[in-house]
Parts: sequence; C-alpha cells; structure tokens
Amino acid sequence: MAVHRDAAGALHRVSARCTHLGCVVHFNEAECAWECPCHGSRFGVDGEVLQGPAVRPLKRRGADGVP
Ligand code: FES
Repeated sequence: MAVHRDAAGALHRVSARCTHLGCVVHFNEAECAWECPCHGSRFGVDGEVLQGPAVRPLKRRGADGVP
C-alpha cells in the first residue's frame, strides 16, 4: 500500500503496484507524486495517472476503496 497524508491532514491510500507492469512506486516529495522506477509512470496522490506508459490509475485502498 502507498499512503500519503496531505497538508490538510487527509490520508490518501492507493495500491503501491504500478498498473503498467507491476513495479512498486515510490513517493517523490518535491513533485508530490507517486513515481515508478521501472518505466517512469507518475501518479497523483489519489492514484490518477499523470504520465504514462501506465494508462490506468493506482487502485484506491482503505476507507473509500478496497481494504
Ligand atoms: S511498471 Fe511502472 S511504468 Fe512500467
């Protein structure tokens, strides 16, 4: 699971598995984005795709997603 708490205190929980080929994403503090080290996909804190090759968002986890 990839978890980020934003400046307002809200918790954002998504799967850490990149939806391209399954590598584990890492958080980039400067960009406030999840980044995949394998092929460069980038995702917002809620999992939305910011940059491919991934085309599907990270799966949401927790209160408003799958446990
Ligand atoms: S596995 Fe993440 S970009 Fe390819």
